[in-house]
Amino acid sequence: LVVFFGVQSYGFTEFYNLSDDDFFYGTFPTDFEWGFATASYQVEGGWNEDGKGESIWDEFTHRRPNPVVDNSTGDIACDSYHKYKEDVRLLKDAGANYYRFSISWSRILPDGTPSNINQAGLDYYNNLLDELKANGMSAMVTLYHWDLPQPLEVQGGWLNETMADYFEDFARVAYKNFGDRVDKWLTFNEPWVFCVLGYGNTVLAPGVPEPLHSHYDCIHNVLKAHANAYHLYKNEFQQRQNGKCGITLDSNFYQPADVNSRADVEAAERAQQFSHAWMGSPLFHGKYPDVMRELVDAKSKADGFLTSRLPTFDSYWAGRINGSLDFLGLNHYSTELVQASVETRPDWWGDRNVTTFRDPSWEGSVSGKDVVPWGFRKILNWIKNTYGNPPLYVTENGYADDGTVGLNDQGRIRFYTKYTNEMLKAVNIDGCNVKSYTAWSLMDNFEWTNGYTHRFGLHWVNFTDPQRQRLPKASVATLRKIIQDNGFPM
Ligand code: NOJ
Repeated sequence: LVVFFGVQSYGFTEFYNLSDDDFFYGTFPTDFEWGFATASYQVEGGWNEDGKGESIWDEFTHRRPNPVVDNSTGDIACDSYHKYKEDVRLLKDAGANYYRFSISWSRILPDGTPSNINQAGLDYYNNLLDELKANGMSAMVTLYHWDLPQPLEVQGGWLNETMADYFEDFARVAYKNFGDRVDKWLTFNEPWVFCVLGYGNTVLAPGVPEPLHSHYDCIHNVLKAHANAYHLYKNEFQQRQNGKCGITLDSNFYQPADVNSRADVEAAERAQQFSHAWMGSPLFHGKYPDVMRELVDAKSKADGFLTSRLPTFDSYWAGRINGSLDFLGLNHYSTELVQASVETRPDWWGDRNVTTFRDPSWEGSVSGKDVVPWGFRKILNWIKNTYGNPPLYVTENGYADDGTVGLNDQGRIRFYTKYTNEMLKAVNIDGCNVKSYTAWSLMDNFEWTNGYTHRFGLHWVNFTDPQRQRLPKASVATLRKIIQDNGFPM
């Protein structure tokens, strides 16, 4: 069966080829929702405007030499601080049901604490929420998308357990001021990424080399902070505001290099346990995964640590974290092949005893993330089987190019067509409880240490234009059609 599906968009006629044998026709459940995502530091700009405080990303990108590949910063970024009305219009034109954005902690609490609340910061998010509502869209709001107030980093940041209390205070201000218009709250975005790459590695802010146990300590404190914010919402706000609260974990899918090798199959599961289940297991079962406990305890001992580098929750925290989510958020991009190995590096990377690599036949992309659509279906099934099929919101999925294709982004059209089709199989064939899908990103933006060199947007942003003009890429029409059809009807 060969079906060509024509999409008209701004001078390009785009087609995606549905002729693949494994293409699946059907539609999502009628209450399925579609949205587009961004994050405060990546799009807002206005880094020190109207009383905003300094965040760790302001500090990081203002270092000299600048650790960002193109020496850029998010000082202006997409200028969404001034252009939010236009952003909402783009969302509406693309057919979105909701917008996922994050709140800059230091925009509303410049020193990180509620002792000083910045009214202009509250105004900004109130205006954005009102604008969404006026245009018939709902809001999915991330409390923490990596931009910790610098004054809190000075106190040790996420390596300091007290952050769990500061975070609760911040969450209270957000729920109180915005919660009447927020459908879904995400406490944290991708703890793995900011803990492993920001603490213990210098790839992301705060980018301070830390002792070898720091990624474990970071996750430990983040899970406590998450649980505090979740219970606060449950106990004091949910009844009145009627939203839901969850967390977003990122995970690649880990595929055994040789599915007939027991060692590879176990290694792939171990990789999954050390990434997604590192947080997922405490959230759904009240403790770190058994395989992490075993390996990290043994390796810590062998390395001469007095206690395990992987901390333990006491019964109070285990109980408080266990079940602390109304839904699970997933950011998924790619898949890796896995083999067993014996590693000696005394940190998270070495503790897993796995080697990961790519299949050279896979389609690559500028971000280094390979396009492996079937891995999306597999991670959705892994989540279903591991945690008892919880309500799952796909909070990010997307594709970067380097911008040379301009608006004619065929790679992204292929990506969204195939990934959403695999998600349809996961829902309609496998029974995965997926409730919504969020594309990363509404527009090109500041891609962390890759600056503006990786463009993930469905809209092109002209970063040399002081007006930061936005233009829809061809892929907007593709996704709009998928949204309108709620899938791929025959
Ligand atoms: C994950 C992060 O949440 C987001 O900030 C980032 O831009 C995308 N993935 C793409 O790398």
